[in-house]
Amino acid sequence: MNKTIIVTGGAGFIGANFVLAWVKQGFGKVVNLDKLTYAGNLENLVDIQHNANHVFVRGDIGDQKLVAQLLAEHQPCAVVNFAAESHVDRSIHGPEDFIQTNVVGTFHLLEAVRAYWGGLNATDKTAFRFLHVSTDEVYGSLEKDEAPFVETRKYEPNSPYSASKAASDHLVRAYHHTYGLPVLTTNCSNNYGPHHFPEKLIPLVIHNALAGKPLPIYGTGQQIRDWLFVEDHCAAIRRVLEAGKVGEVYNIGGWNEKPNIEVVRTLCRILDAKKPREDGKPYADQITHVEDRLGHDQRYAIDATKIARELGWKPQETFETGIEKTVNWYLENQHWVNNVTSGDYRNWVQKHYADRGEEMA
Ligand code: NAD
Ligand code: DAU
Repeated sequence: MNKTIIVTGGAGFIGANFVLAWVKQGFGKVVNLDKLTYAGNLENLVDIQHNANHVFVRGDIGDQKLVAQLLAEHQPCAVVNFAAESHVDRSIHGPEDFIQTNVVGTFHLLEAVRAYWGGLNATDKTAFRFLHVSTDEVYGSLEKDEAPFVETRKYEPNSPYSASKAASDHLVRAYHHTYGLPVLTTNCSNNYGPHHFPEKLIPLVIHNALAGKPLPIYGTGQQIRDWLFVEDHCAAIRRVLEAGKVGEVYNIGGWNEKPNIEVVRTLCRILDAKKPREDGKPYADQITHVEDRLGHDQRYAIDATKIARELGWKPQETFETGIEKTVNWYLENQHWVNNVTSGDYRNWVQKHYADRGEEMA
């Protein structure tokens, strides 16, 4: 079996980081299937645009015929599924796209993969993997003193986004249990790093700070997330693909629990040092508390013991080193930010934050 893999959603934040590392580090050929929604951006892949080991295909994971054609043509040894609608706030404004891509799309993808896998010879069948990239949000919200999420934690998704991801996880599990499809599922905490679309907290705050706009904190800002540098997440996925036990779930996290307000204050401090405001005032002056997210989960935390113990993965970056790299990337790539924040982005920001009484666009 050749070493080609199909990656879905490889023009988005995590998918692009994964594809860039895979191709640049010479792991083999990637066929990158991405619909190029507002979150998908070919500029993320510019470094490998002329690399023969990267084949980009614009298309939908829900297009079973297209996926079947790609599988037949490229004979991959694995499919890594990043493609999803990923933004919780958008899922609150309009859940339908989330059901369509995350649930129905994953179903069609699985059907195409099942048919392809069923036709492989015995050796290739045993070697094949379908890796589904999921989230810690499927487990719901933790109380302050509760232990972090382990893989056996019951599913209690609270947003349309997390419910749609939970449904996709269940489908993946069922395709293994029922048909024997060799699946792996990873549930990861909040990623941050280069190419992160500035609708999510960290890139939004960097972008707004530099633009002199308010830094919107939902509610008190005491909600807690566990942050992982995106390249560490990509390394974990590679490790699971390489050595994960078929049918198993691996939680991936950074052991970096932080309240949102602390994350934002850290970003302000780093920017104060690297790119001081012209008026000499601290960026923290731009912090503005706005109306809370509906159904806002209070706390996520991942127990990443299993992947460390069984597969030997642990994060390389601390929050301090990762966040510094991230701020540097945004400061050095303002053209990328300017390109992605033109057009439709402004409409989203205007609609979403105007509801909270803030003028941001
Ligand atoms: P993203 O929104 O930045 O990128 C999603 C990509 O999928 C985009 O390129 C988009 O064009 C593509 N896409 C969307 N619908 C598609 C469809 N129907 N067919 C083909 N392509 C489609 O998302 P991300 O933050 O990179 O997240 C990637 C995956 O990782 C998602 O499955 C998400 O649930 C999961 N995840 C994300 C985080 C995080 O912190 N961002 C953490 C844990 C898990
Ligand atoms: O936990 C993993 C999840 O992390 C992934 O599955 C999702 O795809 C990803 O988007 C992310 O979800 P969150 O909702 O945690 O990320 P977001 O960056 O949208 O928000 C992080 C926290 O910051 C959350 O508590 C909401 C808060 N927030 C967010 C925005 C955009 C604010 O206070 N203000 C904001 O303007």
